[in-house]
Amino acid sequence: MNKRTITNLLVITLCLVSTMLVSRSGSARIATDARLKQPEQQAFDQEATLAELRKQIAGKETMPAETVFKNIQFLKGVPAARLLAVMKIGYSRSLGVNCTHCHVVNEWEKDDKPTKQTARDMAQMVRTINNDLLKNIKNLKSESPVINCTTCHRGQTKPALDLTEAVPKAD
Ligand code: HEC
Ligand code: HEC
Repeated sequence: MNKRTITNLLVITLCLVSTMLVSRSGSARIATDARLKQPEQQAFDQEATLAELRKQIAGKETMPAETVFKNIQFLKGVPAARLLAVMKIGYSRSLGVNCTHCHVVNEWEKDDKPTKQTARDMAQMVRTINNDLLKNIKNLKSESPVINCTTCHRGQTKPALDLTEAVPKAD
C-alpha cells in the first residue's frame, strides 16, 4: 500500500463514521420532537389543576353544575364541587387516567376529545343498568345494588374479559 491508498482509506473511513454519527443524532432529534408534540406525556399536575378549579368556583360549590360550568349535559343537578370530585375519583381514578384523557387542559367545556362523549354515553349506560335492569333482579345481597365506572374499569381504560389473578373465594 502506498501513501496515497492509505490516505484514501482513511478518508473513506472518516466519511462512514461521520455519516453514522449524523444519522444517529438525527433520529435522536426526531424522537425528542415526537415526545414534545404529545402534551399528555408531559408533566401534568392534577392536584394543582383541581385546586385552581376549586378556587374558580369558590362560593358556588353547592350550586347545580349546569349553572356554574358551561357545557353540562348529563351531570345536571349535581353540585359544582361534587362534579369536580366525580372527575377526580369517578372518572380519572376508576379508568386509571388523568384529566387529559378526556380534556384539553383549561378548555374543559369543549367536546374535542371523543373520550369525553364516550364518558357521557357510559354514564347513561350505568344509569340504565342501575335504574332499569339491576333493580329487577331478585334475591341479591344488597337492598339497592348499584354499579359504577369502577365496577368494570378497575383502573383500566379497557375492562378485562378474563381473570389474571386467582378467583376470590365466594362467601
Ligand atoms: C373519562 C373522561 C373524563 C375525565 C378523565 C375527566 N373528565 Fe371532566 N368531564 C367529562 C365529561 C363527560 C364532562 C361533561 C359532563 C356532562 O356533560 O354532564 C366533563 C366536564 C368537566 C368540567 C365542566 C366543564 C364545563 O364548563 O362544562 C370540568 C371543569 C372538568 N370536566 C374538569 C375535569 C378535571 C379537572 C379532570 C381531572 C381531575 C377531569 N375533568 C377528568 C369527562 C371527563
Ligand atoms: C358494564 C361495564 C362498564 C361500565 C360500568 C363502564 N364502562 Fe366504560 N367501557 C366499558 C367497555 C367494555 C369499554 C370499551 C373498551 C374497548 O375499547 O374495548 C369502555 C370504554 C370506556 C371509555 C373509552 C376508553 C378509551 O380510552 O378508549 C371511556 C372514556 C369510558 N369507558 C368511560 C366510562 C365511565 C366514565 C364510566 C362510568 C360512568 C364507565 N365507563 C363505566 C365498560 C364499562
